[in-house]
Amino acid sequence: MSLVNRSLVTIDDLSNGEIEALFSLADEMSESINDQSHLCQGKIMASLFFEPSTRTRLSFEAAMHRLGGSVISVVDIRATSLAKGESIADMARVVGSYADVIVIRHSWEGAAKVVADYAGIPVINAGDGSHEHPSQTLGDLYTLKKERQTIRGLKIALCGDLKHGRTIHSLAYALARFGVSRIYFRPGPGLEIPPHVLRKLTQDYGGAFYKGPATDLSSLAQVLGAQSADAIYITPTDSHQLALMPDVHLKLDTGEGAIYVTRFQKERAGDSAISEKDYPKISPSVLKGKDFKRTLVMHPLPRIDELAYEMDADPRSMYFKQAARGVPIRMALIALLLGAREIDVPEEEELFSKIDYPVYRRGFGVKCHNPGGNCVSLHETKYIKPEFKIVSFDPLTLRCVYCEHEVQPEYIASSEWHQGMLESKKYHSSGSHWLKKIKPENLIMFDTEAEAQAQGFKPSSYAGKRNDD
Ligand code: CP
Repeated sequence: MSLVNRSLVTIDDLSNGEIEALFSLADEMSESINDQSHLCQGKIMASLFFEPSTRTRLSFEAAMHRLGGSVISVVDIRATSLAKGESIADMARVVGSYADVIVIRHSWEGAAKVVADYAGIPVINAGDGSHEHPSQTLGDLYTLKKERQTIRGLKIALCGDLKHGRTIHSLAYALARFGVSRIYFRPGPGLEIPPHVLRKLTQDYGGAFYKGPATDLSSLAQVLGAQSADAIYITPTDSHQLALMPDVHLKLDTGEGAIYVTRFQKERAGDSAISEKDYPKISPSVLKGKDFKRTLVMHPLPRIDELAYEMDADPRSMYFKQAARGVPIRMALIALLLGAREIDVPEEEELFSKIDYPVYRRGFGVKCHNPGGNCVSLHETKYIKPEFKIVSFDPLTLRCVYCEHEVQPEYIASSEWHQGMLESKKYHSSGSHWLKKIKPENLIMFDTEAEAQAQGFKPSSYAGKRNDD
C-alpha cells in the first residue's frame, strides 16, 4: 500500500490499518535511526510554523534530516508575504513548487486544509488553531501501543482544556476508532469538549455520551478533584456493558488506562480567565492508590502547572517518551508520503464506516459560525466559498468542512425557483415542513432574513415558524 502524495490534515485521513502499518515502520526506523539517510536524499521539506513550537517543528525537522532530506523553514508569519496580504492559497501554490512536502502550523482552523487543497504536494497539519493535531496523535497512540500492546479496551481520561486542545480532539477521534473502552472527560472550568467533537464521537463513530454530576463519577472525580461537570464517552465496543450498569462508576480500574493531561490554552481563550483551583492537576499524591498503579500519565507538552515536576521520575510518566517517539513516527510519515517507503497495510477492523454526508456549498448565504471567528473560511473570503456537510436534518445542522464547528441555519429556500420549477421565490423557517419538501441538493440556507431578502427572496407564511408540524 502506498501513501504517496497523500496529505494528513485530520487523523481521519489515515485508516486504522494505515496507522498500524506506520507504527511498524516507526519501529523499524527507531531501531536503525542512523541508517535511514538514503531514503529522502534530494527531497525538501518546507517547515512553516506560524505559531510557537518546540517538539513538533524540531521533531519534523530532525526526522527529515535523519532521512537525508533538506529543510526550508519559516517560524514567523511576519517574515512571509502573508504579512503583506498574500493569500494562504497563493503561498501554498508557491511553496508547493519549491518543496516536496509541507508541514504547517497556523492559528486558523482549517488553514492546513487550504494549504493541502492548493499546494499540489503532500501537506501535514502540525496544528491548526483548536481544530486538530494529527501527527501528535500518531505519537500518542504509538506510545499507548508500545506500553500496553493494544489500544482496544483501554480506559482513557482526557483532562484539562478539552475545548481548545487540538491534541485532545484528534486523540479522542482516534481512541474511539481504535475501540478504547471508555473516554472520561475531565475539563477545566468552562473548557468542556465542544459540541461538534461530541457529535463526531457519537454520530460518526457510534458511541454514547453521558454527562453527570460529580457524585455519579465517583472514583475519577475524587482523584482528579472534580467539582462540577464531568462526562464519559462509551465507545460502541463497550456500550452493551453500559446497558447492564444502572450506575455508571467511572473508575480507571485494573490500571489498564491512561490519564492524558493538557495545559490551559491561554492563547486561544481571549480574555476568559479560568479558576486555577478547579483545573485538574496531576501529581504523585493524586495518583496514589492501587487503582492507578499502572495508569500511564501522558501529556503532549508543553506543561504549565497541571503536571507536577515530581511526576517526572515516576515510571508511569510517558510525556518525554511521547516527545522522543515523535521523531521515528514523523520519519515514517514523511517517508510514506514521499513514496520513499511503501507498507503492507494489515486488515484492521474499522469499527465504523465513514458517513457520506450531503455537501452544501454556495457562494452566498450561511457562513461558518466558528465561536472565535477563527475559521480560515471567515478570513480568506476572496477565494474560499463556505462549504459544509449536512450532518442533521432535525434540526438542520451543518458542519464546516474547514473547522468542523456546527451551524444551524435559520432560513431555507429552494433553488428549484432558479430552475423555473417554483412560481415564487420564497424563504421559510428551517424548522418548518419545507425542510422535508426541498431536496438536499436544492437547499439554499441563510443565517438571517436580511440575507435571504438581499438575494431577492420574500418571506413565506412559514418564515417565522420554527415548527409547524
Ligand atoms: N506537543 C506539541 O505540539 O508541542 P509543541 O507546541 O512544542 O510543538
